[in-house]
Amino acid sequence: MKNVLFVASEAVPFIKTGGLADVVGSLPECFDRKYFDVRVMIPKYNCMYQKYKDMLQYITNFYMEYNGQNTYVGIFKTEWNGVTFYFIDNEYYFSGESAYTSNMKWDLERFIFFSKAALSAMPLIDFHPDIIHCHDWQTGLIPVYLKDSFRAGEFFRDIKSVITIHNLKFQGTWDVSTIQQFSGLSPYYFTPDKLEAFKDANILKGGIVYADAITTVSETYAEEIKTEFYGEKLDGLLKAREHDLRGIVNGIDYGAYNPETDQFIEHHYNVKNFRKEKIKNKRALQSQLGLERNDNTLMIGIVSRLTGQKGFDLIAYVMDELCQDDVQIVCLGTGEEKFENMFRHYDWKYNNKVRANIYYSEELSHRIYAGCDVFLMPSLFEPCGLSQLMALRYGTLPIVRETGGLKDTVVPYNEFEGTGTGFSFTNYNAHEMLGAIRYAESVYIQHRREWNKIIDRAMKADFSWNVSANHYQEMYDWLLGY
Ligand code: ADP
Ligand code: GLC
Repeated sequence: MKNVLFVASEAVPFIKTGGLADVVGSLPECFDRKYFDVRVMIPKYNCMYQKYKDMLQYITNFYMEYNGQNTYVGIFKTEWNGVTFYFIDNEYYFSGESAYTSNMKWDLERFIFFSKAALSAMPLIDFHPDIIHCHDWQTGLIPVYLKDSFRAGEFFRDIKSVITIHNLKFQGTWDVSTIQQFSGLSPYYFTPDKLEAFKDANILKGGIVYADAITTVSETYAEEIKTEFYGEKLDGLLKAREHDLRGIVNGIDYGAYNPETDQFIEHHYNVKNFRKEKIKNKRALQSQLGLERNDNTLMIGIVSRLTGQKGFDLIAYVMDELCQDDVQIVCLGTGEEKFENMFRHYDWKYNNKVRANIYYSEELSHRIYAGCDVFLMPSLFEPCGLSQLMALRYGTLPIVRETGGLKDTVVPYNEFEGTGTGFSFTNYNAHEMLGAIRYAESVYIQHRREWNKIIDRAMKADFSWNVSANHYQEMYDWLLGY
């Protein structure tokens, strides 16, 4: 049996701000249980729903030297879908209203604490990992610690580490002296070949330099991040480590995202009966949102963090033009104020066509995945993207820009060959995007039988975790010398 411990800052169902939580929460149960025992460790946030906090079982606590203080660390655990989840408790660091704050220095102090506490807790949980699998900058110091102070302990000596980059944009950088103080690492580590990057200390860089293997969440993104445009100034390092870097595309939880059983949608359907049944969800969504009930209006869905990454500049640029068409646009998301206000503005201006739902809602997200005709995701960059996979699963055709995981998972419709699962465009250009949307409109209106065949292919495409979990298993085997 090989033991793997995921250490991360979020995991469904306990805490979620984006796709990272979906991955960390749903991948572990998909490994071959005969050979792999994969568990998860996350912070015990006070902002978790009470029903989840009530599930947690106290294991033990200890005190750890951190940032010049003797600091409390509690350990809790619970089981979810047969997977053991551990929680690191410290009220000072994790009692806030959300997983992340707007204060980067404070988040650095919090997640460096978490990384150190996670390692320190391991000998006390009755689970000896062969591999620690870290995710994103929040856990980037773990591979460093494993080669540094923690190496001295017998328990840690042979443990291998993996870091998965879910988003290279976020690296956890601050001035060297602050990071040195929080991390307790010696000045030896703060040189340009290790944690220093452009005079600052960079936590993710530490993880990339010291991890035994590096992965990211699609093959295309694994290539892209070795280039200047996508490399976020770490392209040189990623190129240098390219032999230890691989792209493994994400899957989604086919139990939670299943149009046949989804508890959030009114009318269940599958690949056989979607022609009659899916449209009922569109009508229900139109009624729920107070939009005209019209089967022939192309309903465009967006569920997203509202940030520059997701291509909202393009949408803002052509929104007036797009709203001249026979379309309805439904957005669900929160994020940067300028994008929240952009959608609110168009909701006011074209109130018969646009709905801005500026909040977080699991339920409405499922109703959009099921009810809309197309799902718009014109990202500037996209490490993988899960929303388009959810849309595919519900037969809601993705319109995407060909970047990162979007390129790897959406096959553009080819009317001559009768292939494809969605629509795409290449350049980060608003009118190219509009062209793709209008092409979708024309197929929807004029070639409904073809449209339904695209849905058929989209719903049959397999983005369950099976294949990708196998790739992770192969990598673990390789790391452990099997
Ligand atoms: P990212 O991780 O970059 O935000 P992904 O596509 O990988 O993008 O994952 C986004 C996840 O967050 C999806 O599960 C999506 O449904 C969900 N999501 C994003 N915004 C909201 C929202 N406002 N309400 C509900 N779910 C949301
Ligand atoms: C990040 C990326 C997204 C990816 C998710 C899970 O949030 O932005 O593309 O799907 O992580 O890996």
